[in-house]
Amino acid sequence: MARRAVPRFEAVKLTRYKHACHAMFHAPNEDKLFGRIPMRHTVLMQMRFDGRFGFPGGFVNLEEGLEAGLNRELEEEIGLDVRILGITEGDWAVTEVHDEQNFVSHFYIKKVTPEQIRQIETAATTAKDHGLESLGLVRVPVYTLPRDKVGGLPAFLSNTFIGTAREELLMGLEQEGILSHAEIQKALKASTT
Ligand code: APR
Ligand code: MG
Ligand code: MG
Repeated sequence: MARRAVPRFEAVKLTRYKHACHAMFHAPNEDKLFGRIPMRHTVLMQMRFDGRFGFPGGFVNLEEGLEAGLNRELEEEIGLDVRILGITEGDWAVTEVHDEQNFVSHFYIKKVTPEQIRQIETAATTAKDHGLESLGLVRVPVYTLPRDKVGGLPAFLSNTFIGTAREELLMGLEQEGILSHAEIQKALKASTT
């Protein structure tokens, strides 16, 4: 599945391609699991209707605009209050073109507060597509359990993901400074053993 990264302004010229936009919401997390293991950070993903993990979002029309289309999808799938928490062009992270599939995937990252994460999670259960396209938001375990060194992120990465969502998750974790490159490589190694 060949793909190439292109800037946002180049991608919107690809009018014959189908475009999809998805978003990663994340926030700092001071909580400790069992009172001792730092949760480190909250990152939201979605269990999709097809049984795969992905980010909320979906197909958009270039006429409506990338971010407007994404906010429409986020309202439908997770009931996002887009007036307050809506995605803007400034949240753009990466665009990848899949020429064989005539498909362009846009990925956005938005840092919010721990309170806003709770608001997003609460609203998600009453969204129009909850129980349909979206089977619920989930928090990604970004830590690795010391007891077996597999539980947590390595085990999570063994799931099945839609499209390039797994790569986008890893990119987001590193780009946002949630995990270091070395920590991500370690988790990847542990996930395959
Ligand atoms: N990264 C890259 N590509 C992704 C990601 C992701 N995180 N998530 C999904 N995709 C790709 C998938 O190939 C997917 O089919 O983008 C496409 C569109 O995203 P969806 O969120 O599945 O689309 P949405 O508009 O929300 O609605 C689902 O897709 O399969 C059809 O008929 C189905 O109408 C339904 C629609
Ligand atoms: Mg949708
Ligand atoms: Mg979708």
